[in-house]
Amino acid sequence: MSRFHGAVAEDPPMTSDLMIFSETGFVIEDEAEGDVLAREALLDRAMGPGRRRKSSEKLRRGRLPSAGLAFIARNAAGQVVGSVRLWDVAAGGAPLLLLGPLAVDAACEGKGIGSALMRHAITRAKERGHGAIVLVGDAPYYQRFGFSADKTGGLMMPGPVERHRLLGLELVGGCLETSGLLVATGRRELRATKSAARSVEQAA
Ligand SMILES: CC(C)(COP(=O)(O)OP(=O)(O)OC[C@H]1O[C@@H](n2cnc3c(N)ncnc32)[C@H](O)[C@@H]1OP(=O)(O)O)[C@@H](O)C(=O)NCCC(=O)NCCS
Repeated sequence: MSRFHGAVAEDPPMTSDLMIFSETGFVIEDEAEGDVLAREALLDRAMGPGRRRKSSEKLRRGRLPSAGLAFIARNAAGQVVGSVRLWDVAAGGAPLLLLGPLAVDAACEGKGIGSALMRHAITRAKERGHGAIVLVGDAPYYQRFGFSADKTGGLMMPGPVERHRLLGLELVGGCLETSGLLVATGRRELRATKSAARSVEQAA
């Protein structure tokens, strides 16, 4: 399991959970099956019911996140207080990752949890050999992690998108030099997983 503390992804892993929580108040971990309900509730609270109508959702629905690239932040009480996932997509035949949703519990905002999730996600994506990440979001927030709209002009989402919010980050030089419609390429959810996900949605 991947696990480390704090706002800076390059920080060395801490060995003691006590030290982790006393220093930062949260840890970042790989998302586990048992985190799904809490993650969905967090996303509903943070983003509202309209989150399922976003264009990005068309690239996620019915798919699993990219292998090893779903993370949560957990507070000292063990509660899920942040979430980010990355998804396999492609444009013009070039593989890319789609990041999102990123959300942090409103009660925990401004403590560096969002930044820690982002830096952890970027580091792990790089380690897994991915070439570029795209997302739809606020440039004033995501530019601190290196995202910009500079190289996304040729990309199209499968639905409406404000062009200045379609942002990209190259992990390997040249990997955003592609164009075309973004399509989902991720592993499909199994039927059992899908119906569990639907139950979670209906319960939400
Ligand atoms: C956006 C979000 C993930 C940030 O999480 P967080 O843990 O509070 O972020 P951090 O503590 O790492 O960073 C806080 C900084 O980001 C800034 N920030 C937060 N949201 C921002 C936004 N939309 N645009 C610009 N800056 C933003 C804060 O003002 C703060 O700035 P400072 O460091 O200068 O004080 C969180 O507010 C959230 O979940 N919002 C609701 C869902 C959402 O909007 N998701 C992102 C979609 S674009």
